[in-house]
Amino acid sequence: MATVLVSYGSSEGQTAAIAERIGDVLDEAGVDVTVVNANHPPANLDPGRYDGVVVGASIHAGRHQRSVETFVSTHREALNRLPSAFVSVSLSAASADPGTREDAEGLLEAFLEDMGWEPDLTLPVAGALKYSEYGLLTRFVMKRIAGRERGDTDTSQDYEYTDWDELEAFVLEFADLLEAEPASG
Ligand SMILES: Cc1cc2nc3c(=O)[nH]c(=O)nc-3n(C[C@H](O)[C@H](O)[C@H](O)COP(=O)(O)O)c2cc1C
Repeated sequence: MATVLVSYGSSEGQTAAIAERIGDVLDEAGVDVTVVNANHPPANLDPGRYDGVVVGASIHAGRHQRSVETFVSTHREALNRLPSAFVSVSLSAASADPGTREDAEGLLEAFLEDMGWEPDLTLPVAGALKYSEYGLLTRFVMKRIAGRERGDTDTSQDYEYTDWDELEAFVLEFADLLEAEPASG
């Protein structure tokens, strides 16, 4: 059975939910999956011992979580050797404006270049607006940003933009890559 490590960073929980869904889809495809929060990695974590690695991170103020930067830079060699995939979660990826969606692509590409990592597959993923989880100031700022984008500004509710079907298709594409590689065990 192929083994896959899913490592993620998440500030308000959407990428955590996405990582869990990635794990579920791989599990259903017959893969032995381990999902790890990059903020609290197990002490003996060795990505090089898996048959593939998926990394997820979300964008805040133009950058991905530092915990994920640390994970990728620490394990760059294994990530470049194994089948690997990166999902970058943001509101820009949810925008109706193609230019804003290009910004999300640009931040994804810039992250990979900074890290020196060339994953086999990448996906910008639309995240969520979780007004109920923001403090007052963040709620105010996010409402203004959403307003500028003609997005959802009713702060009495949360909004989720993630396209779960697109994510599932992406994960199955990744699972196909594992079959193309010799699996351990
Ligand atoms: C304080 C803050 C800053 C954010 N900055 C950006 C940003 O610069 N670009 C963007 O596209 N999305 C931005 N977002 C949206 C998040 O990427 C989006 O809400 C995502 O779903 C968060 O995922 P998480 O819950 O896994 O952290 C920001 C969200 C917050 C709360």
